[in-house]
Amino acid sequence: MKTVTAIRRATTADAHAITAIYAHHVSHGTATFDTTARTLDATIAKINECDARSWPFLVAEEDGGIVGYAYATQFRDRPAYAFACENSIYVHPTRVGRGYGKRLLTALLSAAARAGFRQMVAVIGGGEPRSIALHASVGFRQAGRLHSVGRKFGRWLDTVYMQIALGAGDADPPPDEP
Ligand SMILES: CC(C)(COP(=O)(O)OP(=O)(O)OC[C@H]1O[C@@H](n2cnc3c(N)ncnc32)[C@H](O)[C@@H]1OP(=O)(O)O)[C@@H](O)C(=O)NCCC(=O)NCCS
Repeated sequence: MKTVTAIRRATTADAHAITAIYAHHVSHGTATFDTTARTLDATIAKINECDARSWPFLVAEEDGGIVGYAYATQFRDRPAYAFACENSIYVHPTRVGRGYGKRLLTALLSAAARAGFRQMVAVIGGGEPRSIALHASVGFRQAGRLHSVGRKFGRWLDTVYMQIALGAGDADPPPDEP
C-alpha cells in the first residue's frame, strides 16, 4: 500500500511534476482561470521566488513521486498587503480525495504563519465544491463571491473568496513595526 512519505519544501527538481499537475487542472478544470499551461521555466521561477521571499512552497510525496503541491504568495503586490497571502493548491488528478489536499493545506497554514503572514485568502475559481469543502474543513470561512467573472469551457464562472487568520491574526501588530 502506498503512503505519503513526506510533505516537504519544493525544489526546482520538482518543477516537472508540478508543471504537469497544474497543466492537467488548466486543461480540465475551472479551479484556475488560466487557459494555457504554465511553462517549466515559469514553475522554476515561482519556486525560486518563494525561496527568495521565504514564502512556503510545499510538495506531497508518495513513494518518491510528487502527488500534490501548495504554495502561499503575497495576496497583492502593494506593500500594505505584506501580511496577507493567497494560497494555491493542486493534487494529482489520480490522487484526489485521499487526504493529500488536507495534509498539504494544514502544513501550508503552519508554514505561512511561520513566514510572518497573518491572513490567508483562497481565491476559488468556479466556486469548486471540493475546494470549498477542503478549505472549510481546516477552518476557512467564506468571505465573498464574485458572480460570473470567469469564462471557460463555454460557461460563466464565479469566484469564491475564503479566508482564515494565521497566528495572532489581527490581535496585535506585526513585530518590528516602526
Ligand atoms: C481541491 C483539492 C486540492 C482537494 O484536495 P484532495 O486531496 O482532493 O482533498 P482531501 O482528500 O484532502 O479532502 C479534504 C476535504 O475536502 C472535502 N472533500 C474531499 N473530496 C470531496 C468531494 N468529492 N466532494 C466534496 N468534498 C470533498 C472533505 O471535506 C475533505 O475533508 P475531510 O477529510 O475532513 O472530510 C483537489 O481536489 C484538487 O487539486 N482539485 C482541483 C484543483 C483545485 O480545485 N484546487 C484548489 C484551488 S483554490
